[in-house]
Amino acid sequence: MTTTRCGAGEKNEAGLCLQVNGRVHTLDDVPREATLLHLLRNDLGLNGPKYGCGLGQCGACTVHVDGIAARACVIPAHGVAGRTITTLEGLGTKANWHPVQAAFEEAQAAQCGYCLNGMVMQAAALLARDPNASEARIRSELSGNLCRCGTHIEILDAVQRAATRLRAPAA
Ligand code: FES
Repeated sequence: MTTTRCGAGEKNEAGLCLQVNGRVHTLDDVPREATLLHLLRNDLGLNGPKYGCGLGQCGACTVHVDGIAARACVIPAHGVAGRTITTLEGLGTKANWHPVQAAFEEAQAAQCGYCLNGMVMQAAALLARDPNASEARIRSELSGNLCRCGTHIEILDAVQRAATRLRAPAA
């Protein structure tokens, strides 16, 4: 598959047009069965989203589609043409972390790191909708994101730190 530029939101005959992390790509010869996760990792080189279960059950592949947390492993790539997709790489960078990313680093909420993409993306989507999310709401929101290392306490701490920061008035 090749990548070229195309207009935002455009669906052209020659390829699949995707808007990812603020850039628009046209991908040619994308099979109808290709998943969004496959394209992100294999064609666009975005390895933030991880392949875990491939069944929409572990959360490792979570991205944002139009700001909503979604499982990229079960989303047909052709189904999100023209939609706005954000991956972990588009959320923030080391030089300018998103508050959730910064909080995860501060709280040392990672061990093996495999679940981290999904935890961060799920939490960021929640806090964008509801920065006043209660502990119970955060726990419920992240209940579909699996962590085998058992860093749940640190992850909860990180999300609550991020929520506090997002609620604070800008200086
Ligand atoms: Fe997508 Fe597990 S890899 S939910």
